[in-house]
Amino acid sequence: MSIKHFLQFNDLTRDEIEYIFARAAWIKRQFKSYQQYWPLSDRTLVMIFEKASTRTRLSFEAGMQQLGGSAIYLNTRDSQLGRGEPVEDAAQVISRMSDIVMIRTFEQSIIERFAANSRVPVINGLTNEYHPCQILADIFTFIEHRGSIQGKTVAWIGDSNNVCNTWLQAAEVLDFNVHVSTPPEYEVEPERANLYGTDHFEEFVDPMMAAKDADLVTTDVWTSMGFEAENEERRKDFADWQVDADMMRVAKADALFMHCLPAHRGEEVAAEVIDGPHSVVWDEAENRLHVQKALMEYLLLGKV
Ligand code: CP
Ligand code: NVA
Repeated sequence: MSIKHFLQFNDLTRDEIEYIFARAAWIKRQFKSYQQYWPLSDRTLVMIFEKASTRTRLSFEAGMQQLGGSAIYLNTRDSQLGRGEPVEDAAQVISRMSDIVMIRTFEQSIIERFAANSRVPVINGLTNEYHPCQILADIFTFIEHRGSIQGKTVAWIGDSNNVCNTWLQAAEVLDFNVHVSTPPEYEVEPERANLYGTDHFEEFVDPMMAAKDADLVTTDVWTSMGFEAENEERRKDFADWQVDADMMRVAKADALFMHCLPAHRGEEVAAEVIDGPHSVVWDEAENRLHVQKALMEYLLLGKV
């Protein structure tokens, strides 16, 4: 049987994503009613972090334990990964000692090289290009609050980063629209986002026009991990790309607000929005746990 990896959003078909969402809903209900569910007992997840994390580490580690397995945390600083061991060699060794691997790293090519040499499924826990687990959780959260996302409009305000690229891929797989507004020089690069076509996204110079009539408004930090040297310049360039109450007013009256977190109040989002009535950021963060449990179950056991 071939190994199934989740390196970018479009590694899964629409049918597989709908299956994972159905499982996530069931796994969440079991968890909320304190029902023990251990389909992955004796399985080991290795988590490799080359960048910082709170949510991703916690949700994968807790999630694997809740499914009856165990999780091991490795980082660049105190493993041989930081001392130049080739990714290919690390993949050979790590995948002989574990059942599934999650990696947070820099270039997408690193995780692809790892996966090409891995005997077990590899999950992308964020790269410079993509953050597929985040968007699985975000869409699952949208569906919980508003039903199907098909045909809906998501407004992305700010940097065309890893989270934005993943929204654009998801729009193609699940058939919804993304309205993107970035400052000049920070526009979407369709090749970097690995898009098949342009049918599902539209770019807007004015962020208010992107947000107009949206069903969901979302944003992310102005400076992603790995780009800290550009921080000062980005603060100036992105000053007009803040999601504030005026922007939420032009979206649909029942529009949701999401942010993958961590957030910077007063930069990409005003406190009145992230702490206000449209915001579902805490449900969004919690759902990382439930969808990733369903994802690991699917990659290891298939349809159960
Ligand atoms: N949203 C997200 O991935 O958060 P962490 O960086 O805390 O993992
Ligand atoms: N775009 C952000 C997401 C953090 C979860 C980053 O890459 O730093």
